[in-house]
Order: sequence, then C-alpha cells, then structure tokens
Amino acid sequence: MVLRPALTPLVAALPTTVPFVGPEAQERDRGGRRFRARIGANESSFGPAPSVIAAMRAAAPDMWMYCDPDNFELKAAVAAHHKVSRNNVVIGEGIDGLLNLVVRMLITPGQAVVTSLGAYPTFNFHVDGFGGKLVAVPYENDHENLDGLLAAVKRENAPLVYLSNPDNPMGTWWEAHEIQRFIEALPETTMLILDEAYGELGPDSALVPIDVSRPNVIWMRTFSKAYGLAGIRCGYAIGEELFISEIEKVRNHYGNNRMGLVAGEAALADQAWLAEVKAKVAAGRERIAGIARDNGLSPIPSATNFVTIDCGSDGAFALGIMKELLARDVFIRKPMVPVLNRCIRVSVGLPYELDIFAEELPKAIAAARG
Ligand SMILES: Cc1ncc(COP(=O)(O)O)c(C=O)c1O
Repeated sequence: MVLRPALTPLVAALPTTVPFVGPEAQERDRGGRRFRARIGANESSFGPAPSVIAAMRAAAPDMWMYCDPDNFELKAAVAAHHKVSRNNVVIGEGIDGLLNLVVRMLITPGQAVVTSLGAYPTFNFHVDGFGGKLVAVPYENDHENLDGLLAAVKRENAPLVYLSNPDNPMGTWWEAHEIQRFIEALPETTMLILDEAYGELGPDSALVPIDVSRPNVIWMRTFSKAYGLAGIRCGYAIGEELFISEIEKVRNHYGNNRMGLVAGEAALADQAWLAEVKAKVAAGRERIAGIARDNGLSPIPSATNFVTIDCGSDGAFALGIMKELLARDVFIRKPMVPVLNRCIRVSVGLPYELDIFAEELPKAIAAARG
C-alpha cells in the first residue's frame, strides 16, 4: 500500500462531483465538435463594451505586474457607483469567490445553512466544502419562497441564508419591498447573502436599497453578467464596514487579476453600454419567450439574461429536449431538481444563435416525444 498525506476528514468525505460540466468539456466529449449556439451558461453574448476592450488592450503590457492588493481604484469606483464608502466594498474573484469567503467566515461543520431547493449550486458547493448542513426550501410557484426560507432560518437557528434576486435558475424575482420585509424579519444573528448577479438586468423596482448600516446583509454583484466579463472573474460585495473588514482578513489579496480590475473600472464607467445591453437582453427574452410559445411551451417571466421554459410535462421530457438540442449543437442547460426540472433554461444569445434555437427546438421536441 502506498502511504499518502492524509486529507482532512471533511475533504475526504466530499463527493467527487463538480456543480457544472462546462460547454468546453462537452465539446471535448463530442470529439471536439463545437456548439453552434452557446446559450446555456448565462454569459453575455454581447460581450464587454468597446471602451472596456480598449482599456484592457491598453493595460495588456502591464500584466507583468501583480495587482494592487488593495484593489484601490476599483473599490473607489464601486463605492462611487453605489454611493457608499470604500470601506463598505470588497472586490472578489467573481461572486463565486466571495461566496466561498462568507461561508468560510460564518460556518463551522454541522451548522445549518438555508437556501432554496434547486438554487445556485456553487453556493451549495462551498457550504459542503466547509461542512455546513444545507437546509433547502422548495420553490413556490417558481419563486424562492421567502416565508419558507425565513421559517427554516428560525427553525434551524441558521447563521447564514442565501437568496438570489433575480433568481437563477428560474429567472423570477421579488420586488424590493418583499425583500425588505424578509430582511427586517431575519434574526440579527443570521447573515443574508443577497446575490444580485442579475441585478442590473431586471426592473430597478426589484433592487432593495443597499443599507450598509445593516450588519447582517451582504449584497453581491458581478461583472460577469450584464457587463459581459464572465471570463475576467471579478465581482464585489457591499456591506457593513466591520463585516467587510473581516472579509479582508481572509481573502486572497492577490486573487484578482490585474486585467479584471481594469476591466471592472472601465465597465462601471460605461453605463451607456449597460443600458444598450439591458435593452438587447429584454428583446432577447421576448424572442425566446415567443419561440417557446410557438412550440407550445410556456416561458416563465424573467428578470435575467435567460428565460426558463416550462416544457409542460415531467423532468424526463425536459431532459430529452435538452439532450436533443445538445445533439443539434445548441448548448443550453436546465434545472435538475423536481419540480423545476420540468423546465429548460435558455440564455439570451446573439440573434443568429436564437435563430438556430428557433430552428432546432421543434425538431428537439419532436425527437424527445418520439
Ligand atoms: C445567481 C448567480 N450567482 C453568481 C453567479 C456567478 O457569478 P460570478 O461569475 O461573479 O462568480 C451566477 C452565474 O451563473 C449566478 O447565476
């Protein structure tokens, strides 16, 4: 027997799963055949603003330098954008990286963490990684169930609850006053992660005003979605100064790449591009909804850059449609947990990608029925 360094019992007990199989891995499995439409990962096919690309081009020769470990410039830009102090802002390696830190800071093995059943799996991945006990509350009418989450928090005495508004994977949202009511009803000893990854893309009325005097809410935003910079891995969190300074104690100070910081700052400076993208995304949602209806399926109203489509039957049927679309080189994803699994999820792509979706969907449905 070969002796090996021992893993911690926590890591040794983790299953060898990953939350996502990327389109690249799927293409490799298909012998390298590329997808014709990449409309599955809720990226922004519209890309970053030309001004952001220009800023990144100009910064390229500087990439031999480490980033400023204080992320000073981007922090200042985020603070100005949201009208808070720099001390209320922390920059991270996307929301995914920030989720990891907050779970690490609040959860010891065995403690309850509340989320929704079928919600963003990367959060669950981090909770599992720190030994938390996931308590998952079923969706209600395709919305995260605010009263159910609150009841679970209280029942389990949970130090942490996760809520995404607008939501992934259903695309639905709550208005700000509902979120506010939820926040006010939370125990002071429970931290809310309010994941607003799609916050720029929905109605402004869904965005609860950021209140940095609240010690138990942390708002998270990203440059990956509306700003079209998923590959740059940059996001930020806003919260009470003390909690933010605690994050500073554990974060990876050189974790943000220098290019991401440049890109984020340039992206915030180009709000005209954001408005353009927002309009294109809204039009794309309409188009996807129309394609779904033309095929007898029911689109669920969305405040994000994707539309989740109720295929009107069970999980097996929706899975069949997804597989048939993948086989026709259309990369989409779907929710996997019952009853959300009766749906497929389609990201707003470029018009030509939605043309391909429109052409292939009826064939995929027929094949899935067949
Ligand atoms: C709800 C939600 N949160 C966070 C993320 C990831 O954000 P980031 O790219 O900033 O890590 C996603 C991406 O799909 C998401 O859907």
